[in-house]
Amino acid sequence: MTVSWSTFNKQDSPTVLYGTSPDKLDQSASSNLSSTYPTSRTYNNHVKLEGLKPGTLYYYKVTGTNGYEAAYLPTFKFRTARPAGDDESFTIATFADLGLMGEDGLSTATGPFGGSAHATLEPGETNTIQSMLALADTYEFAVHVGDVGYADYALKEFVQGLWGSDNATTQPSRQDCMSEQFFDQMRPITAEKPWMVSPGNHEANCDNGGVTDKRANITYTDDWCLPGQTNFTWFGEHFKMPSYESAGRGNFWYSYDNGMVHFVSLTAETDLGNGLVGPIENSTNNVNGPFGSYQNEQVDWLKNDLASVNRTATPWVVASLHRPWLTNVEPDGLDYPAWQQAFETILYDGEVDLVQHGHVHTTELFQPQYNGTLDERGLDNPRAPLILVNGAAGHYDGLDEFPSDERVNGTLYANDSEFTWGRLTFHNRTHMTYELVASRNSSVIEHWTLVKQHELEKKGGERGRWCGKLKC
Ligand SMILES: [Fe+2]
Repeated sequence: MTVSWSTFNKQDSPTVLYGTSPDKLDQSASSNLSSTYPTSRTYNNHVKLEGLKPGTLYYYKVTGTNGYEAAYLPTFKFRTARPAGDDESFTIATFADLGLMGEDGLSTATGPFGGSAHATLEPGETNTIQSMLALADTYEFAVHVGDVGYADYALKEFVQGLWGSDNATTQPSRQDCMSEQFFDQMRPITAEKPWMVSPGNHEANCDNGGVTDKRANITYTDDWCLPGQTNFTWFGEHFKMPSYESAGRGNFWYSYDNGMVHFVSLTAETDLGNGLVGPIENSTNNVNGPFGSYQNEQVDWLKNDLASVNRTATPWVVASLHRPWLTNVEPDGLDYPAWQQAFETILYDGEVDLVQHGHVHTTELFQPQYNGTLDERGLDNPRAPLILVNGAAGHYDGLDEFPSDERVNGTLYANDSEFTWGRLTFHNRTHMTYELVASRNSSVIEHWTLVKQHELEKKGGERGRWCGKLKC
């Protein structure tokens, strides 16, 4: 377990005290990871706790937090991952495109020079963070499929007049302020639940550069973006995903096991391999990645990772990839985007059960399919992965809208009018349920159960045992 926290001062030796009783934090771990980046007000501290028992409740406290406050910080708790092969039912929270809530983010109002009813909460609604906190006892950890915080939206919020008549050049540090607020809002959940993040475009591209503030007659370029908002700097500084343990790369591609499930996280933004150009690799002013040591590192890693999954221990495989290739926001199709070219066949060959996306701010579920061909078995033991778009968690800019009633072939569900998050329950080795939760009141709107017998295609191994291409 890696414990990460921010402080306003650099820590010589960030330390976590921990133990299996809240009254006896008799173990400690330290690191020398306390770093910052240009324009950030905080230092980012990370300590990895090793040698923990699986499936065990631990209590912990961080030290070295800006002097006098340290003595009063609460003791938090977390539960370690279940051992691979543990077949007890468990539930996770899953969502994408979650940003700042409240006065500087998603609220009941937008600025007077932009926004729409699709970008606000109704009075009295709870937001996604509040809903996930209210139901925190119902899931074990949180999977965030990219677009984390949306601090780069500060510019759009200025231009829309949310913060009055100032123009953006007077307060560029508002981006970092939004980042700090976002972590404070998430802390009641994420101090006690692992927060597994995937990269999205808003971790790098600060893509509101180029907008014009008509009132001030200023056109902002990418130069406005703070360094931390570019090239995944903020994302890399604040999070430490288990890429070392899974031979992945930074927070970009990595995997981990929990009970009956192998989770894979990928990036659609850069490093697509085979000459494909990631959607934010080719920006002229804002160079992002690549991050692999060679062009095909991510796709080679994915093939190897899927091939080495022990499907006897972890029959379920769930992949996270921020950008979708199916969405009813573009019902005419996305014209075989580069990230689909890079990953769809590998995920299909690897018999992945569920692919989770975000990026469009809607909730959509698609019948299992591969390369445009629907799997006629639907949710009853399909060969192709079930595809979920889970991007309606919310941020200042609200939801996307479907342009018409036309639906992409294979659409099982499409909702562009509610802020939502999801719960995935792995009941056993063959049944998984996705529950869609309405953020406004924490009710379950819909649910679907995927049945997979996991009699995986025989590729040289014994029947029922996965044996991937690279191992056979
Ligand atoms: Fe996105």
